[in-house]
Amino acid sequence: MIRTEDGWRRFCSERGTSGDQVFDILKDWSEESARLTQEISGLMLRPLNLDDLEQIYKWRNDPEIMARTRQWRMLEWNEHLRWFNNLDHDRDIMRAITVKALSLESNMVGVCGLTHIDWVNRSAEVSIYIGDENFRRKGVAKEAIRQLKVMAFDQMNLHRLWAEIYSFNSPGLGLFKSCGFGYEDILLDTVYRNGKYYNSHFYNFLEDAWKNEKSDTG
Ligand SMILES: CC(C)(COP(=O)(O)OP(=O)(O)OC[C@H]1O[C@@H](n2cnc3c(N)ncnc32)[C@H](O)[C@@H]1OP(=O)(O)O)[C@@H](O)C(=O)NCCC(=O)NCCS
Repeated sequence: MIRTEDGWRRFCSERGTSGDQVFDILKDWSEESARLTQEISGLMLRPLNLDDLEQIYKWRNDPEIMARTRQWRMLEWNEHLRWFNNLDHDRDIMRAITVKALSLESNMVGVCGLTHIDWVNRSAEVSIYIGDENFRRKGVAKEAIRQLKVMAFDQMNLHRLWAEIYSFNSPGLGLFKSCGFGYEDILLDTVYRNGKYYNSHFYNFLEDAWKNEKSDTG
């Protein structure tokens, strides 16, 4: 049986206790389980701000994320700060991925963006990670990429999005396939990790594909 806060208070007072301590434990537990199990009811991309920096620093240095991205070593705080201060918003647009799950506050669960923006040839690279592992495999990255497509094609008038995924990154490969990106090519021995060379797979998503996707989804 699922009880509301009032329900638990009534349950405890019927047994002669205010139940505050029990209630606090149950509240923590139910918030945590809601976070882990509930459907996400809203996802938004918003600009990064200074308050996000500490969390993003942890994610950028998370070995699991580092292993799949271009970053091959731990970053120092000063380097991270410099990265944030030097973000040139005409060349690299980074956004915090925020979600709302059940009754919880909306919170940042990852970062995504368009990098290497080329205004002359109208192309950009897609970059994304979901740092909060509780929110992986819930369709968050897929929806974030859909919102990046809106930004890229409907607001920035870009023609081509592309992504480079290392051959050992099966979640990344699956993600771009499931977002309708076309397979472009393979470059051999592009990345050296743990004493071995790996290949890069390139994917693209062109303006026409976006028009088709929009007309298919109404
Ligand atoms: C790749 C990553 C962004 C996926 O985020 P996510 O929110 O868990 O992905 P979604 O839930 O939106 O899943 C979308 C698709 O990605 C694929 N996918 C996601 N996680 C996967 C996994 N662990 N194994 C295999 N495929 C996976 C699936 O095809 C999935 O579609 P499906 O659910 O219909 O099968 C996340 O695993 C991550 O942050 N990885 C580290 C950073 C990274 O590799 N970034 C990509 C390179 S830029």
